[in-house]
Formats: sequence, structure tokens, C-alpha cells
Amino acid sequence: MPATETELDTRTDLAPAPWWRQAVVYQIYPRSFADADGDGLGDIPGITSRVDYLAELGVDAVWLSPFYPSELADGGYDVADYRNVDPRLGTLEDFDRMLAALHARGIRVVVDIVPNHTSDQHAWFQEALAAGRGSAARERYIFREGSGPEGAEPPTDWVSIFGGSAWERVADGQWYLHNFAREQPDLNWDHPEVREDFVKTLRFWSDRGVDGFRIDVAHMLTKDLTEPLPSKDELALIPRDGNHPLIDRDDVHDIYAQWRAVFNSYDPPRTAVAEAWVDPSRIHLYARPESLGQAFNFDLLEADFDAQSFRRIITDNLALVAASGSSSTWVLSNHDVVRHATRYGLRTPTAESTVPTRHGGQWLLDGGPEEGLDRARGLRRATAATMFLLGLPGSTYLYQGEELGLHEVADIDPAQRQDPTFFRTEGAEIGRDGCRVPLPWHGDGPGLGFGAAQPHLPQPAWFANLAVTLQEDDPRSTLALYRRALHLRRRLETAEELEWIETGRDDVLRFARPNGWQVITNFGSDPYPLDASLGGEVVLATSGGPVADVPGESTVWIAPQGMSD
Ligand code: NOJ
Repeated sequence: MPATETELDTRTDLAPAPWWRQAVVYQIYPRSFADADGDGLGDIPGITSRVDYLAELGVDAVWLSPFYPSELADGGYDVADYRNVDPRLGTLEDFDRMLAALHARGIRVVVDIVPNHTSDQHAWFQEALAAGRGSAARERYIFREGSGPEGAEPPTDWVSIFGGSAWERVADGQWYLHNFAREQPDLNWDHPEVREDFVKTLRFWSDRGVDGFRIDVAHMLTKDLTEPLPSKDELALIPRDGNHPLIDRDDVHDIYAQWRAVFNSYDPPRTAVAEAWVDPSRIHLYARPESLGQAFNFDLLEADFDAQSFRRIITDNLALVAASGSSSTWVLSNHDVVRHATRYGLRTPTAESTVPTRHGGQWLLDGGPEEGLDRARGLRRATAATMFLLGLPGSTYLYQGEELGLHEVADIDPAQRQDPTFFRTEGAEIGRDGCRVPLPWHGDGPGLGFGAAQPHLPQPAWFANLAVTLQEDDPRSTLALYRRALHLRRRLETAEELEWIETGRDDVLRFARPNGWQVITNFGSDPYPLDASLGGEVVLATSGGPVADVPGESTVWIAPQGMSD
């Protein structure tokens, strides 16, 4: 009997789940992905030329780090014009062609929005500089008089996230706030024009057909800068409970409520994911359907390769997302942290952790990457961890090059480094360039197939051995493993639930999904025997198989009978 209209209205359980809930999203750092015009910088036509590669890999969506006009003071996160393409990377027409090519292969597109700060080259900031103190143009940013005699000292002793003072003085003596590099002045989100302009930007890209947005530094837009401003030490003592002057303020969600109305005015609604480094107990505020809808969960990215840490984080995060109505996002690598193959292969743990994600200190340089790193072990653990993640309910973010088993590039000549962290700490922190080196597409030739010219960051000789063309035809390669996993994952997709199966071992995790798909990861070294009553067949083994047991530092997937072909 056909359903009545009322029944149809209420049967939301039958509606297909929105695409992003369990998507595999592949992060492209455009300047380092593929360089079509051979000028050394990756570009939009380069991405278009590699759409087949992305489709064969089996990703559901790509997230593009900023490709907007930029002076590249911070790898493109210093945006000079939010509604354009950097001429070195292409044109808006190139963007439309890329979008159409990705959509034609069923791949969705997420773009990066950077609302906390603009570039100092942005027309607004240039106008603010020219207009002088007290002008309306300065109101769009955070200008203050300095302290001390003649205001020659910064208004406060606050330190920027990239090192050095968070204030910069301009020619007429005023200071402006920049929580990141001095070329990234913070916007004043109390200003209605700032709010209006970002809505315009979200509509601009949504109208062009992008499917979603990744929101940079989503937790820092709103600020309470009521005088007197606290000192750095006072700031550190203020609880981050929604009323902190700079971080994770409750009133930031007024902005996202407005954005949500914009996203929901499209069909299908545009998605958003927050980059919010906040207390785990507050992340759900960003992930709520009435706010951005999803938020990155960086807990695994900061965890050791350790079964019990993984289990605790996953259990906690699944509970948090269930409460927010969102789905989880699992991340092990991105353009800001040391590649996880390298973190997991370090021979010399640091004081804080065995897997430092940050690029701080000299840990990668001391002893040199070869002495300090067990590459094979790092990669073994990395693929085990990634395949574990890909079995979990929720969406997984992959970072370009991890499917090739790339390690961090540690030995970049200081003269060729680009990251402001390196310069602002005078080299004390080596920065993030090592995970942003252009991809090796071929085993030889200039730029290893990235582009004709010298790549903007130098590729080490060992990149040649990991080139796409060398891995494509090798069934035992890391690339082949990722391809197999992503294609299987689509077939095995099931409801967003997980049941832990006790293994009797602290170093082995095993779980089952509602359709019987099982994932087993051995974080230790002793093999974990596979029992006769598996309830299915082994369809994937990061150790390469054949599999009578689960070797140390490896993952297997078991598919219910009949679901594996
Ligand atoms: C987070 C981005 O991921 C990072 O690359 C950037 O430097 C900062 N936000 C500032 O925009």
C-alpha cells in the first residue's frame, strides 16, 4: 500500500544519510599537489588533471586548502581576496572546470574559509592603513594605542601563535592585533560589514556549486577586548568556559547560526566542519546541526600509537557526537602536523610524548631523519592506524601523500623554508614545510612529475621511490592498500554504530559494525591469532597477508560472507 503524505513526512529514518556523515575526505594542499603550468607552484588545472587519480583512489570528497590570492606569508592562510583564485593557481573559470570534473566523478568539494584574519594585502587592511587612526576603516580590524612612553610598547604582552608579539606597529604609531603572523591582521567580528562580507563569500562559493566549507580557527573569531586588557599570564588563568576574552567564546555561535541559515538555503544544504582547538567537552557546540554541523576531532592525531588511548578516545568521541547529532571526524595527518608515518617511527621519544605532532624543537633534526627514524616501522604503524580509522563510524580525513606512504621531509635548507613559524621563532621551531613538499607523481624527471620546473619546496631524492607511477602497478604498495580499502569501505558501509569485541589483550583492539564488518588492530608485537569462528573472511590485511593471525603493528578487516566481492 502506498504511504500517505503524512507517513512520508514523518519517515525521516528512511531518508538517505547526508553524504558527509561517513565520507572519506582527501585534503589537497593545492600549491603542492600538481603543477600544470610548470611554474613550481601547484595549481587548479593541476588538480583537474588528476581527477582520475582521485576517483581511482576512491575518495568521496576533497577539501582544498586556500587557493585564493595571497602573498603566501602563511601558505595561503593569509587571504587577500576571498572571492577569487590566486592568478598563479588559475582563474575562476579553471575553478569551475575543476569543480565540474570532480562532480562528474562523484567527488564532492569542500573549500577553506579563513575568517579570523585577512592578509595585510587585503583591500580592507590597505584602506585601514591609509585612512589612519580613528578612521572607520580601522574599525574592521583591532587597532589600539600602544603602552609605555609615546605608546612605543605593544598594548599587551600577548604572544602570537607563531611566536613573537601578537601586536604590530604601523607607521602612524598605532598597533594592530594578529594572533598569527604579522601579515595576518585579526578581523573585528563585532563589525557588521565583516559579518555581511563573509556571508557574501559563503554564497559566492555555494552558488558556484561547492559542497561544503572547512572553517579555519573557528574558535577565535569573537573577542572581548574591554579595557583594561589582561596580561599574557592573566589570560592563561582565565577559564575557557565560553567567556574567555579570546578563545572559544559562546558568542561565536551567533555567527555560525547565521551561516547555518545560509548553508540550509541551498539544496542540498552546504556542509561545514570546524577547525576548533577547544576543550573536548565544548567541541559539540561547533558540531551541532544548528551551528557548523561537524568539527574536527584532533584527539587521535595527538595520541600515541597505543591501543588503550585509541579505545578511550574513540569511545569518548562517539558519545560526544551522539549527543550533538553530528558524526565524528577522524584525522591522523594534515598540513599543520608531522606526518603520522614519521611520528610513529621516531626512535627517540620526546619528553612530552612518543609521537610529537607539532613541528616544535629540534626533534626531527637531531641525529638527522635517517638516524632518528625507523621508516618501515613508522609506515607499518601508520597504515595499521589509518585502516583502523577507516573502519570506524563517521568520516575520515586523509592528507595528500599519506596514500603513498610519504614521510616528513626534515632536511630542508633554511633558505628554502617558508613557514612563518620557522622565521618568527628564529629557527627554534622548524615549522610545517616538511609535510607540504610537492607530491612525487613519477619516479624521475624534473619535479618527479609534479611540474616541469623546480618545485616551490625541494623534494628529497627518496621521494622518487614512492612515486605514484611506481606504486600503481604494485599490488603490495601503500597506494594499492589505500585503494583497496576505500573501495571496500564503500561496499561495507553501514549504520554509524560500533561494538567492541574483547580480545583478552591490552594491545589489540577489535570491533564490529552493525552489518558484521570487523576490524582488528594489533598495536603490540606478538601476533594475535584469528579464531576459526571469524564470522566472515579476511578482505584486507595491512601486513600484506596471507593471514593466519594478525601480526604486530597491523590491521585486518573481516567482511561477512558475500559482502567482499
Ligand atoms: C589553521 C591552519 O590549518 C594553519 O595552516 C594556519 O596557519 C592557521 N590556521 C592560521 O590561519
